Amino acid sequence: MPGHPPGAETRPSLPADRRGRRLRDLRISVTDRCNFRCPYCMPAEIYGEKYTFLPRGEVLSFEEIERLSRIFVDLGTSKLRITGGEPLLRAELPTLIKKLASIEGIRDIALTSNGQLLEDQAGPLRDAGLRRVTVSLDSLDPEQFRRMSGRNFGPERVLAGIEAADRAGLAPIKINCVVQRGLNDPSFIELARHFRGTRHVVRFIEYMDVGTLNRWKPSEVVAASEILDRIAREAPLEPVGPAYPGEVARRYRYRDGSGEIGIIASVTQPFCGDCVRARLTPDGRLVTCLFATDGRDLKAALRGGASDAELRDLIRSVWTQRDDAYSEQRGAAASRASESPKRRRVEMYEIGG
Ligand code: GTP
Ligand code: 5AD
Ligand code: SF4
Ligand code: SF4
Repeated sequence: MPGHPPGAETRPSLPADRRGRRLRDLRISVTDRCNFRCPYCMPAEIYGEKYTFLPRGEVLSFEEIERLSRIFVDLGTSKLRITGGEPLLRAELPTLIKKLASIEGIRDIALTSNGQLLEDQAGPLRDAGLRRVTVSLDSLDPEQFRRMSGRNFGPERVLAGIEAADRAGLAPIKINCVVQRGLNDPSFIELARHFRGTRHVVRFIEYMDVGTLNRWKPSEVVAASEILDRIAREAPLEPVGPAYPGEVARRYRYRDGSGEIGIIASVTQPFCGDCVRARLTPDGRLVTCLFATDGRDLKAALRGGASDAELRDLIRSVWTQRDDAYSEQRGAAASRASESPKRRRVEMYEIGG
């Protein structure tokens, strides 16, 4: 942990939320734009050619992101993940990575991308200091890929992006597959087969009710237990402990030593108890839960001339008031939401998962 303040995890001045969780990760969404239109996130019928995304002036600059990141580090954050929308659409992204990589106290910088533009960018991102990349890939079948990405692309460029990231030194690469009943179920097994024996780790994600647009139905969720059963029938698995406390994915390795997979079971096995993640939207709102109704506007304070100490106090006060545990309360929360269907919620593309 180079440069990380000793004992930072327990330093009394670091804020804990109302459930005793200390801020550790910051997920930074650098753009609300995306070159895909996954129906579970940004359905094409709503986000058509005429949809207006955030104007440039509303989006945080690299300097603003860097300044806020330093303040988050003062408050205990040691891990950054760059997300979108699609983060590789943000111009000059390696410049931002370089700035963030130089912050003392950061021990991990990762990025979550849909992989379409990764082939050319993997090398420059690695050179700038990126350590890890996670690529979303829901299906290897061209027709299913098209349906789940909402655009007329096949999986080839994503696979080429994964190879380029491997060559650039970003391996092992994590591959995220959202499993949706009736779409890539049961063909998700092909992804497990394809990456078994490589160093890469496929993580199967239970389909979640994020945002307001995907018309999520519980019947479309394929439970972690079912996903695991299917894979284990073909290749026996055994559980492995978490790589770090609070890891979102549960890890399993093939008994024959041919690698590992992960399962992210936010619906059937919620992990709110360990949730130490804050999220920053492209326009500078601080969001404390994937399912939050909104976030606290940090940009207004930032651009209104707040000092670092004032920004730190603002973030601290948001975090200490935090009581989020949506996935653990999903049943009750969902029935409240159905009583007021227009209730706002942060969309997936504003926070990148
Ligand atoms: P690692 O640092 O490699 O462990 O990454 P990660 O799994 O935290 O990040 P990634 O962006 O790959 O997220 C994987 C999936 O888990 C995405 O679908 C996220 O939406 C979901 N996820 C991540 N954090 C949370 C969380 O706090 N709550 C819920 N419900 N889902 C989350
Ligand atoms: N449920 C589960 N995962 C989702 N993702 C986007 N929307 C959903 C959803 N409704 C995934 C993306 C990406 C990650 C950041 O979140 O596919 O891999
Ligand atoms: Fe884009 Fe990711 Fe949303 Fe798909 S899930 S539309 S790739 S931001
Ligand atoms: Fe954290 Fe909210 Fe996800 Fe629970 S539902 S793990 S509180 S982001």
